[in-house]
Amino acid sequence: MIKVLIINGPNLNLLGERETDKYGKDNLEEINLQLQKYAMEISIELETFQSNHEGEIVEKIQRAKYESVKFIILNPAAYTHTSVAIRDALLSVNIPAIEVHLSNIYKREEFRHHSMISDIVIGQITGLGAKGYFLALDAAKDYFQGD
Ligand code: DQA
Repeated sequence: MIKVLIINGPNLNLLGERETDKYGKDNLEEINLQLQKYAMEISIELETFQSNHEGEIVEKIQRAKYESVKFIILNPAAYTHTSVAIRDALLSVNIPAIEVHLSNIYKREEFRHHSMISDIVIGQITGLGAKGYFLALDAAKDYFQGD
């Protein structure tokens, strides 16, 4: 079974109560529960992780290499637009990744239009709400089809 790690960045622990017009009404626990169910259905071993701290996200990415993670789905939240450290961590582990955003970052303030990781991930899903994580799981599955 392929092991996939979903990482959510700062303030995403507040989903369901935070700017629900942009991020939806489901909280992260509910979303993660549904993702776990879906992952089981498509034979993926899923780990979910959320942190408000850049260094913890960097360390989680570094550890992924030694924890048999084969694919990373990453919503770095605000760190998307600023973090050279998260970019470097992803580059250092060389694990294929997809970037997910709940809101469409290109429809929002200009500072959100730039992602520090968009050129080093397989692809980006933005603006489809929590569905983006499910689509990313499908893409992870497809990526290893035939293995
Ligand atoms: C976000 C978009 C970011 O610009 C923002 O800082 C977030 C969430 C999204 O999922 O839409 O916290 O990554």
